[in-house]
Amino acid sequence: MQTWNPEQYSRHARFVSDLGAPVVDLLNPEEGERILDLGCGDGSLTEQLVSAGCQVMAIDSSPEQVFAARERGIDARIMDATCLEFDQEFDAVFSNAVLHWIKDQTSVLENIHRVLVPGGRLVAEFGGFGCVASVRKALATVLAERDIDANNFNPWYFPTTEEYTDLLQTCGFNVSSICLFPRPTPLPSDLTHWLKIFVQPFLEPIPKENRNSLLAEVRDLLAPILRTAEGTWVLDYVRLRTTATRPR
Ligand code: BEZ
Repeated sequence: MQTWNPEQYSRHARFVSDLGAPVVDLLNPEEGERILDLGCGDGSLTEQLVSAGCQVMAIDSSPEQVFAARERGIDARIMDATCLEFDQEFDAVFSNAVLHWIKDQTSVLENIHRVLVPGGRLVAEFGGFGCVASVRKALATVLAERDIDANNFNPWYFPTTEEYTDLLQTCGFNVSSICLFPRPTPLPSDLTHWLKIFVQPFLEPIPKENRNSLLAEVRDLLAPILRTAEGTWVLDYVRLRTTATRPR
């Protein structure tokens, strides 16, 4: 349902990894630490962990992104985050802009807990409650006009801090920090490119030949809300950022 084209991603969505720099700071990687980069994409943040002297294993469910990460010399594997093939091997699990794509959160958090050594930490940032609400509303509107319920095709999970704290604790973590903050995000190009990269699952019920016109309708609905007078599109991202540890 959702595929990734590394060339398009690099051209129109590089900001996703660029804006992940504070999450690397929060991780505070130390030389020699064993780190799992969960959802490495094309490996641009993974490279920073390698440069810090860490032993990094990178995984992603997208073969295309894993091949792109390998081209940077990164040890990357195609793997589903809910079926991690490791056991108590990592000092830290790092994840930027990935967890909101995973519906089975209990499974992914149980997997992360299992692959960490006791005392190991999860440092993650992803979309939080309210993220891209305007885009979701516009998609719901144009799909409803075609008698389609957008909820049936929504791939995203954007929790509150309360909900995610409960989930982390239920899966055995101690939550050291968790916060939700709006991060209005200027896009480097037209909204259409972002939509083509990120909203593919919503288009599943639409015949291929009609998808571009549906996206044009979404763009028209959003222009008065998300486009500045200068023509820059600014998306209403909300981030959830957390550090949680596996108790010793
Ligand atoms: C993200 O990659 O951070 C993202 C993707 C889709 C919707 C919202 C956020």
